[in-house]
Amino acid sequence: MFRTLNFLYKTCNIKTVHTLTRVQTKFFSLSSSLRHGEYEWQDPKSEDEVVNVVYIDKDGKKTNVRGKVGDNVLYLAHRYGVEMEGACEASLACTTCHVYVHQDYLDKLTEPEEKEDDLLDMAPFLKENSRLGCQITLTKEMEGMELTLPKATRNFYVDGHKPTPH
Ligand code: FES
Repeated sequence: MFRTLNFLYKTCNIKTVHTLTRVQTKFFSLSSSLRHGEYEWQDPKSEDEVVNVVYIDKDGKKTNVRGKVGDNVLYLAHRYGVEMEGACEASLACTTCHVYVHQDYLDKLTEPEEKEDDLLDMAPFLKENSRLGCQITLTKEMEGMELTLPKATRNFYVDGHKPTPH
């Protein structure tokens, strides 16, 4: 990073460098705060609330997770080191939490909001069973659900593209 800053100081004016530094600092603080879905870091208090789910990453590696009723699929993934990014912290402003829900469980999820559908339309590798992980909250009916990550996701803001309303 320091080498990059040195390069920028040599090639850009000081105002540009400070602006870029601020953007970078904001990006890194956002990334680190993504790991804190406090509720998801609590273990189930009884077997009644346990919901086992399986995350499958883009390389096919499975991670079995003992979640609980009320867990958000995005923050639960963070707890167990599953690479679901969640760049906008579940505020419905990206698609980096894109996930494929096993067909058997699709009708157990709440219907997506219009905004979720709009975002998914712009997600790479969209499929019929695509959902945004940050919009899925575990219920007992989801016991055994498989959640597969796409080959890649795209962060509109980092990539410089902002979604436009339909
Ligand atoms: S984390 Fe951005 S929409 Fe889910």
